Order: sequence, then C-alpha cells, then structure tokens
Amino acid sequence: MGWPLCGETLGFLKPHRSNSMGNFLQAHCSRYGRVFKSHLFGSPTVVSCDHELNLFVLQNEEKLFQVSYPKAMHGILGKFSLLIVSGDVHKKLRNIGASFISASKSKLDFLNCVEKMSISMMNSWKNCKEIGFYKEVKKFALNLMVKHLLSIEPQEPLALKILEDFLTYMKGFVSLPVYLPGTPYASAVKARARLSATVREIIKERKKEELALAKGDFLDVILSKESLSDEETVSIVLDILLGGYETTATLMALIVYFLAHAPNALEHLKQEHIAIRKSKEDGEPLSWEDYQKMEFTCNVVYEAMRCGNVVKFVHRVALQDVKFKG
Ligand code: HEM
Repeated sequence: MGWPLCGETLGFLKPHRSNSMGNFLQAHCSRYGRVFKSHLFGSPTVVSCDHELNLFVLQNEEKLFQVSYPKAMHGILGKFSLLIVSGDVHKKLRNIGASFISASKSKLDFLNCVEKMSISMMNSWKNCKEIGFYKEVKKFALNLMVKHLLSIEPQEPLALKILEDFLTYMKGFVSLPVYLPGTPYASAVKARARLSATVREIIKERKKEELALAKGDFLDVILSKESLSDEETVSIVLDILLGGYETTATLMALIVYFLAHAPNALEHLKQEHIAIRKSKEDGEPLSWEDYQKMEFTCNVVYEAMRCGNVVKFVHRVALQDVKFKG
C-alpha cells in the first residue's frame, strides 16, 4: 500500500513512454497479477489491468460502480464536468455533448475544415529541417476544436490565448494535486478559471448581439438548449475541448511513431490514400464517402490506440461489495 497518506501515487504517476505501460504497472502486475491493491490519490484502491474485469466495471456503470475522480481533480475539472457528475445531470449533459459531431452543420463541413487545416499545417513545414510533430498536432487539434465549437479562426489572438491556457491546464491535469503557488496543479486551476472566463465572455457577446444560431457552430447548438445554465454551458465547452484535444493529438503522434517502425504498413496506407486521390479531380476536396473508404487507415488508427497509451486510467468507486470470479 506504499507510504502513509500518498501511498503509491508518486510511482503510479511517474512519466513513461506512451508505447509502454510503464515500470510501475509492469512491476506490480508481474508481482501481484493484473488486479492488485494499492493506495492512490488518497484512497485505498483496486487497480485492474484485466480486460474482462474492466469491461465488467464499465458495463455496470451506475449499477455496481460509479464515476469517481479524486477530490483534487474536481478543482481542475469544475463541478459540472461530465467526468464528475452522475445520474440525471450526467445524462442531460452527455446527450448534448454527444451531439457534437452530428449537430455540426454537416459532416462534410467538418471534413473540409480538417482537410484545409491539415494542408495549411503541412505547407507551413515546407522549409523546416525538423518539426516537433506532437507540438504541431496539439496546435492543430486545438485550432480545429476551437473553430468548430466557437468559430474562432486559428490566426485570431484569442485562439493563441486559449491554446496557452490549455497547455497549462493539461500540464496540471495529471500532476500531483498540491495547491501551492507555482505548482503545475495550482497553475492548472488558475488556467481553468481563465478559460472559463474566456468562454463565458464569448457566450455573453453572442447573447448580447443576438447572434444565436447565426454562426452554425456547436456553441449555437448548446445555447439553443434553454435548460442549461451558463455554468453548465461553459462546462460542456471545456469538456469537449479537454476530451477532444490532447487525446487526438497524442494519438496522431503515436500513429506517426508506430508507422515509422512499420514501413510495410506505411506503404499500404500511402497506397490507400493515393488510390482515393487518383479517383478525384485535381484539388477536389475529400468527401465523406472517400473517408469511409479508408479501411486500412481506420485499422491503423485502432491499432495505434491498442498499442499506445492515450488515456492510461479511469476512476470508479464500487457502490457495494462486488464479487468477480471469486
Ligand atoms: C483518441 C481519442 C480519445 C480517447 C482515447 C478518449 C478517451 C476517453 C475515455 C477513456 C473516456 C472515459 C472517461 C471516464 O469514463 O472516466 C472519455 C470520455 C469522454 N471523452 Fe474521450 N477520448 C478520445 C477522443 C475524444 C474526442 C475527440 C472528444 C470530443 C470531441 C471526446 C470527449 C469526451 C467526453 C465529453 C467524455 C466524457 C463522457 C462521459 O462522461 O459521458 N473524447 N474519453
């Protein structure tokens, strides 16, 4: 169970390469098996790296188990975050969050936006000897989300401000929750407050100018749901930004990393893309059907998710004593 109070939290959070499960889990699994006891984030904890048990836990959500992120993370996530609320509030907010893609004006709009932004990002690399890919795709993913959610263009100063605050926010997200000036955790709590104020200001402007439903972005969709308070609206926007930005960027970086080690897969992927490009006129944008034809590409994405580590763990609390395989 580790040290008093902090238990084994430090070892658990120790950074490691994303294509591995890290020394802590490796050592614990080989010593105690894939399900073991520990003391993490201030509570006695059962850690499961067992696929079957994990599935059982997630399939019994709200029946035997409930989402339960450590108290310290509440300051970072805010009290209406989908990762914190449960029951009816969760259902209400989740329904709105889940309509993010389907409610976009059209899937084609989204796809065109992705294509244009990818081309512009790659053009900006043309004279570079070296690029930091992860850093670049983080910017790309955030710009895409900010444009789609809030209609803010990448070149606007506000986009840069949001990116900076998000980088600080994410740094503290999985850090040791120590609220002392200068710690990543304290900086993240402050960055969330700034992000929240920025989104609140955007909502205020939209309401004032009566621009609701004029921009066709996701904020318009959320604002049209009158049952939501401003605080809930801000929370959904931040949840989608938080959920969709670093995960996607990490996965894209992992895909590039894995492909560099798999020349055959890279070649197969290129052939799939060249065949689709050849079937189109010069400069004609990709359609949703083209995207659906990318079967091998889709497998590459899934395989990178299987071999890489994007989200390492989720937290649940048992609502009652549960027996599993004895
Ligand atoms: C590689 C990509 C992604 C990975 C690996 C990933 C992973 C996860 C995981 C593990 C959870 C569950 C957390 C929990 O239940 O405790 C989750 C929830 C969530 N994700 Fe993602 N995600 C990805 C992409 C996205 C994107 C693109 C968006 C938004 C556009 C998004 C939005 C959300 C939201 C809103 C939740 C909370 C859902 C709820 O509690 O009902 N995620 N994600």
